[in-house]
Amino acid sequence: MKLRIAVLPGDGIGPEVCAEAIAVLRALNLDLELHTALVGGCAIEALGTALPDEALRMAQDADAVLFGAVGMAKFDQDPTAPVRPEQAILGLRKALGLFANLRPVKAYEALLDASTLKPEVVRGVDLIILRELTGGAYFGRPQGQSGEPPNRQAVDTTFYTEAEVRRLMVTAFELARGRKRRVTQADKANVMATGRLWRQVAHEVRQDYPDVDYEDMFADACAMHLLRNPRHFDIIATENLFGDILSDEAAMITGSMGMLPSASLGEARNRHGHRRGLYEPIHGAAHDIAGKGIANPLAMILSAAMMLRWSFGLHAEADRIEQAVARALDDGLRCADIQQPGTTVLSTREMGAAVIARL
Ligand code: IPM
Ligand code: MG
Repeated sequence: MKLRIAVLPGDGIGPEVCAEAIAVLRALNLDLELHTALVGGCAIEALGTALPDEALRMAQDADAVLFGAVGMAKFDQDPTAPVRPEQAILGLRKALGLFANLRPVKAYEALLDASTLKPEVVRGVDLIILRELTGGAYFGRPQGQSGEPPNRQAVDTTFYTEAEVRRLMVTAFELARGRKRRVTQADKANVMATGRLWRQVAHEVRQDYPDVDYEDMFADACAMHLLRNPRHFDIIATENLFGDILSDEAAMITGSMGMLPSASLGEARNRHGHRRGLYEPIHGAAHDIAGKGIANPLAMILSAAMMLRWSFGLHAEADRIEQAVARALDDGLRCADIQQPGTTVLSTREMGAAVIARL
């Protein structure tokens, strides 16, 4: 089986961590057909657009997409910038129909002390934030700013259709069936019309899954319970914006954003009959440490493992990567973001090699 993968490293530490993920895939002796293109801030600088046609076509033709990170501070400061690095990832999610974003949060025993939470709170945490990825305020229209000071105005629109909510909730219940059989749906039904729609549709879908525990939770309360008792959760299903926020929060349960992978899946199948997907670490471009060779590549490497599992059905190979990562951590190897007393701090490259040595 030839794995045709679009590799889109992007900005900041994206290229550094992507290189290590590719090295791990090569070490598994897979039949790789890699295509690479610029996206994000580097593509704006070279080609004037964050998501050049070439990159989009490459992603559409591939069985799966490995995505590093996008973002550049200089674009954040200008609120009127017509092109922004983030358009690359938002455009890909929409164009590829990647509505379901899986963000697994798993506490590694070796990293219990790396969390700012108490070890007894963190131990055993194993949950997935299932974030809706192609709707809500990210894509609703109208969106924009108008007027002049002191009368400037801005609007964002949270919009969802029943079909969008339903497919995400079906995904949530299906995922839960292979796990701890609990779905928590987080919304703001007390304030938002979209929240009430989410709740209604979730209750309808739940009828088909009597074997799965279901609960509604207000998103703000969910944020609180995530820190109070994260072990309570299995699947947290939620809309785009809440999922963005809750997943960064949940990431810190495990100690570092540098550890967390993600998979973005649609309904479409690839040439191998598996789900087409985009795989990216949840951390960003981290320009402050880019080019120094100290970024943690584990989130990207674990994203590659998710790709093998979801887009190619290569479960054994995915397990090998995940176990190699756990062994490297057990052996006291760390990158700077998760360093603790008594551990050995490795560079990005060295951590990639350490994982390969343990495959
Ligand atoms: C994420 C990121 C993106 C998002 C940004 C880079 C557009 O924060 O994937 O969580 O908001 O979705
Ligand atoms: Mg985010």
